[in-house]
Amino acid sequence: MLLKRELAVFLVALLVVNTIAESPYRFFEWNVTYGTIWPLGLPQKGILINGQFPGPDIHSVTNDNVIINVFNNLDEEFLISWNGIQNRRNSFEDGVWGTTCPIPPGKNFTYILQVKDQIGSFYYFPSTAFHKASGGFGGFRILSRPGIPVPFDEPAGDFTVLIGDWYKSNHTYLKSVLDRNHKLPFVDALHINGIGPQGPNRATFTVDQGKTYRLRISNVGLEHSLNFRIEGHKMKLVEVEGTHTMQETYSSLDVHVGQSYSVLITADQTPKDYYIVVSNRFSSILLTTTGVLRYSNSNQGFTGPPPGGPTNEIGWSLTQARTIRTNLTASGPRPNPQGSYHYGMINTTRTIRLANSAGQVNGKQRYAVNSVSFVPTKSGTPLKLADYFKIGGFTPGNIPDAPTGKGIYLDTSVLQTDYRTFIEIVFENKEGIVQSWHLNGYAFWVVGMDGGKWSPASREQYNLRDAVSRITTQVYPKSWTAIYIALDNVGMWNLRSEFWARQYLGQQLYMRVYTTSTSWRDEYPIPINALLCGDVAGRHKRPL
Ligand SMILES: *[C@@H]1O[C@H](CO)[C@@H](O)[C@H](O)[C@H]1NC(C)=O
Ligand SMILES: *[C@@H]1O[C@H](CO)[C@@H](O)[C@H](O)[C@H]1NC(C)=O
Ligand SMILES: *[C@@H]1O[C@H](CO)[C@@H](O)[C@H](O)[C@H]1NC(C)=O
Ligand SMILES: *[C@@H]1O[C@H](CO)[C@@H](O)[C@H](O)[C@H]1NC(C)=O
Ligand SMILES: *[C@@H]1O[C@H](CO)[C@@H](O)[C@H](O)[C@H]1NC(C)=O
Repeated sequence: MLLKRELAVFLVALLVVNTIAESPYRFFEWNVTYGTIWPLGLPQKGILINGQFPGPDIHSVTNDNVIINVFNNLDEEFLISWNGIQNRRNSFEDGVWGTTCPIPPGKNFTYILQVKDQIGSFYYFPSTAFHKASGGFGGFRILSRPGIPVPFDEPAGDFTVLIGDWYKSNHTYLKSVLDRNHKLPFVDALHINGIGPQGPNRATFTVDQGKTYRLRISNVGLEHSLNFRIEGHKMKLVEVEGTHTMQETYSSLDVHVGQSYSVLITADQTPKDYYIVVSNRFSSILLTTTGVLRYSNSNQGFTGPPPGGPTNEIGWSLTQARTIRTNLTASGPRPNPQGSYHYGMINTTRTIRLANSAGQVNGKQRYAVNSVSFVPTKSGTPLKLADYFKIGGFTPGNIPDAPTGKGIYLDTSVLQTDYRTFIEIVFENKEGIVQSWHLNGYAFWVVGMDGGKWSPASREQYNLRDAVSRITTQVYPKSWTAIYIALDNVGMWNLRSEFWARQYLGQQLYMRVYTTSTSWRDEYPIPINALLCGDVAGRHKRPL
């Protein structure tokens, strides 16, 4: 346990060094262990946080400092990453291979996060090895500050709903399958908050008749796009990954891997149990898992089969995606409306076209972006630390700005970009499966998506008015998706496929947002407690 005195010293050091004072602090101490979990009704060795699977939720308020001391009691190195938490000016805390040294077994590391200028529904997950397949994930919500208007009434309850695909096999085995150059088998089931179809109890959400509830749904799975629906109830979409949306009503919602949505539901039906259904999309094998929406004043169970949903329809999903728009008059983290920043009036200075592909390198299955299949440096030194200590070992700019059509090759790909520029990225998917792309450190505007090949003329159909700003976007098969990003966060940021086997086998890169400035106003110095590893092990961080 952290003693009060140690805490005080630590805090003072933080205040002096990182100048992130003023906003409240929230402290968490997390013990990461293996433990037995029963998601599919059979015992499995899962990753627990403080004995829990899924892990505990983090509740915070805009601008809070969130201090999480993570004790790794696994027998392997471990890191947690914070999906959607921007870690402004501080990619050191990002918790992915390229930014942060892994926590050795038996050791701890204190993450110093600040949820600066953010609101919304996010989650955390383990980024090392294939740990995500065994748990270690949980919800991370950022509430609006008191006095900042939220465009809907305070709900009677607020639930975290983590959904995902799941294997009976453990992460060690799944990783070894990939390391031995095999493809992973089809997943075994889907879960809702860690409970699959054969679980002894269904995931249950109890509601009072007549009241309205918020559900924060995140797809924490490994690969599959999922459809989410509730029998007899409509869902009003209110927030997507930090943006208040136009409050459209849906009877079911596609949640691609890595994505988060907030919906409101009103318990306005006759009191009984209603199915909450999750099913996978775009696959010939259909998996379904159900949970329960239970009215508190009812003893009646389900009265029929769970409602069906879309299965293979791509067009349906694309059409739905296009209805998701920003409410320009609603507030964000600040009281001024979200539409007050006119992203559509800013000229982009660079277009980067990124095409995913699959293939073999030296007889091994790999996945690539513009023909480069990402591999970490041999020394294992995180890129951010190599950059900080100026020891080289990687080559910024070693990935082309457009597909080259070359064969796949291995490299530590780092996209070099300039701080304070405004850029366009087009994801081009020539493959026959849905892709899901996530960028750490940022939210971006999803300005367009369509079938076929992107060309400059495709810009004519961009939404330059009320596109949603989010952190993870899908790209449909044989389709493209275009995003705009304001590069206002200096650092080393992971851009990756959320299809976990594909990111593991190279479908990712780092974006180095660079400035010559060394001012702490642009980027914080290395945290005093940063772990050092690889070629920078034992270095002096800075004079104190
Ligand atoms: C973490 O949990 C393990 C297993 O329950 C226990 O042995 C250990 O003392 C705990 N560590 C901390 C820091 O709480
Ligand atoms: C590990 O935890 C101790 C308190 O138990 C804390 O003083 C120390 O800063 C932590 N280590 C790191 C690297 O954050
Ligand atoms: C947009 O936000 C405003 C301001 O809170 C709210 O009054 C309005 O109902 C919202 N509109 C939609 C369509 O969600
Ligand atoms: C994972 O599964 C493999 C194969 O079933 C088994 O040999 C191994 O002991 C398991 N590892 C853990 C950490 O549970
Ligand atoms: C954007 O580019 C157009 C065409 O070159 C130019 O007319 C316009 O002034 C530019 N807008 C801004 C805000 O720089």
